[in-house]
Amino acid sequence: MTISEEEKRKVILTCAQPTGKLTLGNYLGAVRNWSTMLENHECYFGIVDLHAITTPTKPVTLRQNVFDCVAQYVACGLDPEKCHQFVQSHVVGHTELAWILTCLTPIGELQRMTQFKDKVSKLGFKAAEQEGEEIKFTHDGARAQASINAGLLCYPVLMAADILLYNADLVPVGEDQRQHMELCRDLAQRFNHQFSETFVVPDAYVGETGSRIMSLADPTRKMSKSDENERATLYILDEPGQIGKKIASAVTDSEAVIRASPEKPGVSNLLAIHSALSGQTIVQLEEHFAGKGYGVLKEELTEVITESLRPVREKYQELIQDKTYLSSVLAQGAEAAQKRAYKILSKVYRKIGLPDRNRG
Ligand code: AMP
Ligand code: TRP
Repeated sequence: MTISEEEKRKVILTCAQPTGKLTLGNYLGAVRNWSTMLENHECYFGIVDLHAITTPTKPVTLRQNVFDCVAQYVACGLDPEKCHQFVQSHVVGHTELAWILTCLTPIGELQRMTQFKDKVSKLGFKAAEQEGEEIKFTHDGARAQASINAGLLCYPVLMAADILLYNADLVPVGEDQRQHMELCRDLAQRFNHQFSETFVVPDAYVGETGSRIMSLADPTRKMSKSDENERATLYILDEPGQIGKKIASAVTDSEAVIRASPEKPGVSNLLAIHSALSGQTIVQLEEHFAGKGYGVLKEELTEVITESLRPVREKYQELIQDKTYLSSVLAQGAEAAQKRAYKILSKVYRKIGLPDRNRG
């Protein structure tokens, strides 16, 4: 899907957790696509610190990560003059609306979320027997059980609130967020049906190139910042030396032919990264690398990544020194976001018989 002419001046909103360093996956699958939308749309970018606390996070780390996150966004091209960047907890309404939506969400819908099941199984639990629609979890340790807090289960409802609070039209997300987006759309429709037309039913916008960058160590899995293997994930702030090492050790295969195909996930991933950064198509790259070995592909790819990320890293290093500037970006973003949020929250409160919240 591309954004056509008649779709101009839509309200675009997306968010990401302040989990520190952005990966190449975050950049190609998310942030870089967002920056192309600033000119023609009203854009809101949320840093979702309340989502971040669904997993244990040290207070100092959380605070630092929010600054790191906004500095990386600006460095990646999200010009604060052209969009609103805000922190979720700075804006009244996210948790309020989340609670209201929670009361419209059957528990079973949340237990079926793939990402919830993944997180739970990572925490040491296994999805046991499927009983009708519900999934039961057996636990192998009291400590692990303590980690499965209700916030993890309700995570997608808070995400739906982030979106509906602004009546966003389009939500740029990676492939992995499609299921959460479906829940968000269902909730909007459910609310509208029950309390009359209130919310815009938002569309997910999944970019075409680079929407799913895979791990360098196991190319059948998504590149993720939570990967324990440090060679698996490229970060946008990695120094050139680190980029070289990670690409050199990226898993390929023994065929020694440079072509993209489902049986060659490693090579396909490297070609996809090259294509997303260099703008050349996969076919052009296959022609370019015909008869060449993986060493050549890796060397050239290292160069492409290093040169693409150099300006981002340099800009970040400059911005992260200037907390006053970063705070002012977030304060302006929160002000604009709050103005819009109060209008919608107020409408929601009235519809369901709660007192008016409009202080905006
Ligand atoms: P997260 O890092 O999970 O908070 O994701 C932030 C944004 O980056 C979301 O839109 C994700 O879908 C996207 N994203 C994360 N990892 C990848 C990846 N490996 N490939 C493409 N997009 C990704
Ligand atoms: N769940 C999203 C992720 O993990 C982050 C997120 C939270 C989000 N709220 C959102 C994304 C609202 C888009 C819109 O990537």
